[in-house]
Amino acid sequence: MSHRVSLTQYLIEQQRGAAQLPAQLRLLIEVVARACKSIAISVNKGALGDVLGTAGSENVQGEVQKKLDIIANEVLIEANEWGGHLAGMASEEMDDMHAVPNRYPQGEYLLLFDPLDGSSNIDVNVSIGTIFSVLKHKGGDVTNDSFLQPGTAQVCAGYCVYGPQTTLVLTVGQGVVMFTLDREQGSWVMTDSDVRIPEDTKEFAINMSNLRHWAPPMKRYIDECLEGKDGVRGKDFNMRWVASMVADVHRILTRGGIFMYPWDKREPNKPGKLRLMYEANPMSFLVEQAGGMSTNGTQRIMELQPTQLHERVSVMLGSKNEVARVTQYHLDQGT
Ligand code: AHG
Ligand code: MN
Ligand code: MN
Repeated sequence: MSHRVSLTQYLIEQQRGAAQLPAQLRLLIEVVARACKSIAISVNKGALGDVLGTAGSENVQGEVQKKLDIIANEVLIEANEWGGHLAGMASEEMDDMHAVPNRYPQGEYLLLFDPLDGSSNIDVNVSIGTIFSVLKHKGGDVTNDSFLQPGTAQVCAGYCVYGPQTTLVLTVGQGVVMFTLDREQGSWVMTDSDVRIPEDTKEFAINMSNLRHWAPPMKRYIDECLEGKDGVRGKDFNMRWVASMVADVHRILTRGGIFMYPWDKREPNKPGKLRLMYEANPMSFLVEQAGGMSTNGTQRIMELQPTQLHERVSVMLGSKNEVARVTQYHLDQGT
C-alpha cells in the first residue's frame, strides 16, 4: 500500500517548506480538526445522542438555533480557548466575539466559524458541515472590530463536511488539500493533494424558488442555462441544490460547477443571505486557491472591507468562466 499522508505530516511539511507555517497556526489547525472529529461523532449519533431538533433559542440574526448549532459552537470554543494559539473567536451563533479567558495564554490568531452549516438538513440526515476562517490579530485589545479584515487577510480557511464520508478541506494559501477521516484509526488521511476546479461547467446550484425575486442579470444567467442546447449557451445544464453551502461547495471543488446565493428584492437592503465572515470569505479563499473565482456579482468577495461581524453578502463562486460570465452580466447592467 502506498504511504498515506496524515494531516499532522502535511502540516509539519508545511512548517518546514516554503509556506513556513507558524507553529501556532499548525496547532490551531490540529485543534480545529480534532473539534470537527468530535462534532462528527455527535452528528453520527443523531436521534440516539439526542442531538436533533431545535434548542428553543434564536441567534443574533433571528434564526432558530438547532441543538447541533449550539453543541458544535461549544465544542469549537472549548477545544480552542486553552491552547495559547488564539486571541479570540467569533461565530455565527454568538452575538459578539468570544475573548480567550484571562487564565489562558493569548495567541496570535483570530478564529471565525460557522459551527454547523446547513442546519435545515440536520434532522433529515443530509450532509452538513463546519466552516472556519483564520486571521492574524493585529495587536491591542481584542474587540469585534479586530475581526473586520478583508478575506485577502485570511491565513487559513477550511471546512469539514459530515456526509457519507467525513472530509476536511483546507488551505493555508498553498493550494487546497482534502483529508478523509479514518474512523478506525481516528486520523485524517490525505485523499487529494491538489484540488482544482475545472474552468468550465454544465452544473449550477441556486435556490430556484427565489427566481421571481432576483435582479435582471441573475434571471438572465439562469434563463440562458435553462434554455440549454437550444439557447445562446448551446449546451444543456444540470442543477443541484443541497441547501448546505458546505456540501454544494464540496461538489464544486470535486467536479466543478457554479454556486449562487444572490441578492433578492424581498429585503432590498440585505445584500444576501450568506455571511461574509463565516461562509463567503473562507469558501472564496478555498475556491480561489483551487483555481476558481468568487464575486458578489460585481466585486471580488475577498476584497470587500467588512463593516460588521455578522455582515451578509451576495455570493457567486466556482468554475471560473461561469462566475466571470454572471459577474459580467451584473456589471453590464450596473446592478
Ligand atoms: P446555516 O445553516 O449556517 O444557517 O447556513 C445555511 C445556508 C447555506 O448553508 C445554504 O446554502 C443556504 O443557507 C440554504 O438556504 P435556503 O434554505 O434558502 O435554500
Ligand atoms: Mn451556514
Ligand atoms: Mn450555521
